[in-house]
Amino acid sequence: MGKGSWLLALLLLSSLLGTISVQELEQRHRTERISGSAGDVLEDDPVGRLKVFVYELPSKYNKKILQKDSRCLTHMFAAEIFMHRFLLYSPVRTLNPEEADWFYTPVYTTCDLTPNGLPLPFKSPRMMRSAIQLIASNWPYWNRSEGADHFFVVPHDFGACFHYQEEKAIERGILPLLQRATLVQTFGQRNHVCLKEGSIIIPPYAPPQKMQAHLIPPDTPRSIFVYFRGLFYDVGNDPEGGYYARGARASVWENFKDNPLFDISTEHPITYYEDMQRAVFCLCPLGWAPWSPRLVEGVIFGCIPVIIADDIVLPFADAIPWEEIGVFVAEKDVPKLDTILTSIPPDVILRKQRLLANPSMKQAMLFPQPAQPGDAFHQILNGLARKLPHPRNAYLKRGEKILNWTAGPVGDLKPW
Ligand SMILES: *[C@@H]1O[C@H](CO)[C@@H](O)[C@H](O)[C@H]1NC(C)=O
Ligand SMILES: *[C@@H]1O[C@H](CO)[C@@H](O)[C@H](O)[C@H]1NC(C)=O
Repeated sequence: MGKGSWLLALLLLSSLLGTISVQELEQRHRTERISGSAGDVLEDDPVGRLKVFVYELPSKYNKKILQKDSRCLTHMFAAEIFMHRFLLYSPVRTLNPEEADWFYTPVYTTCDLTPNGLPLPFKSPRMMRSAIQLIASNWPYWNRSEGADHFFVVPHDFGACFHYQEEKAIERGILPLLQRATLVQTFGQRNHVCLKEGSIIIPPYAPPQKMQAHLIPPDTPRSIFVYFRGLFYDVGNDPEGGYYARGARASVWENFKDNPLFDISTEHPITYYEDMQRAVFCLCPLGWAPWSPRLVEGVIFGCIPVIIADDIVLPFADAIPWEEIGVFVAEKDVPKLDTILTSIPPDVILRKQRLLANPSMKQAMLFPQPAQPGDAFHQILNGLARKLPHPRNAYLKRGEKILNWTAGPVGDLKPW
């Protein structure tokens, strides 16, 4: 691929843009309703379609942990905290558990940071077990369904498998006590033990105000073709190489470090957010987990996400047509990334950019405070509402038990 062909594409792009008036573009933003693989739309309003009961837990499961380390308000797992705050004041909340469709347990399992501030979830299983034990003994609703009408926010790398390394996460599997619950998680990958049927995949948390503060005029030309900032190797955790990102990031670096179309580096510049607004494509390769905040950043900044993570399941895919918005590149095809991206016709690029510009798209990726219609909180509620009514087998017969309270690694059974 020569630089010439890309310049040609850019020229084409600008001439195409010239034929569409701004008014026309805006009109299209307003009129185009986005719908996803299940035909669901982002504009659905969950209010009136479900009632959620929020368990009141001792503060050691949530507020105290946050007090100990406020950094978990800004890390990419912060959705567990903001979802709690959101629900407390949401019109879908009910104080009467007898009329609840869903039960929510506010436990911040990813906020128990290591001394270095790393959200390593080693204690999460014990904490989660402890919280479930508590709700099961103080209220009758857990035992009634063993969790089938309960949902949990588990935003860590591999969700309720509670480990940051994939092989360990797979070995652990989903915490046995959560087998029947609905999990709201960032981790999404088809045919993976850490994603169970019926889970709701959410975007990772990215700070809305901070992103807002870095917006540049929307008509700024996109003069960067491909942009990426982040690790290519994780020498500390993967000295031999090949585990981290299953080698895909290393391949990006080795193949394209000298390619002038690729603006890629490990250095995070202070203009990171601005740069994304000047780029046509933003690489979203897997890291330890298939997902990363780059997807959210790409959408917010109108940079077409190039998703390199085989079998990834993206957030709210029932309502968001990710195939039309992003570009999906198989991990094995990373060496062909330049040809793949330069062969995308300009009208296809324009269409993707147009979908990205849709405000409902951006809204669905964010957890703003205060909440706003159509934001990620509302999309989670939409997902829960669409699962109602609960199937008959959600509720157990008197005396029936399905879950095994003593299953799982012995270390997880210790009190928290
Ligand atoms: C629910 O079941 C557990 C385990 O079988 C039991 O210890 C607990 O007392 C039960 N809870 C209620 C409220 O009956
Ligand atoms: C529960 O799990 C433990 C540990 O795997 C096992 O020893 C026990 O037999 C199981 N109990 C039942 C009732 O299946």
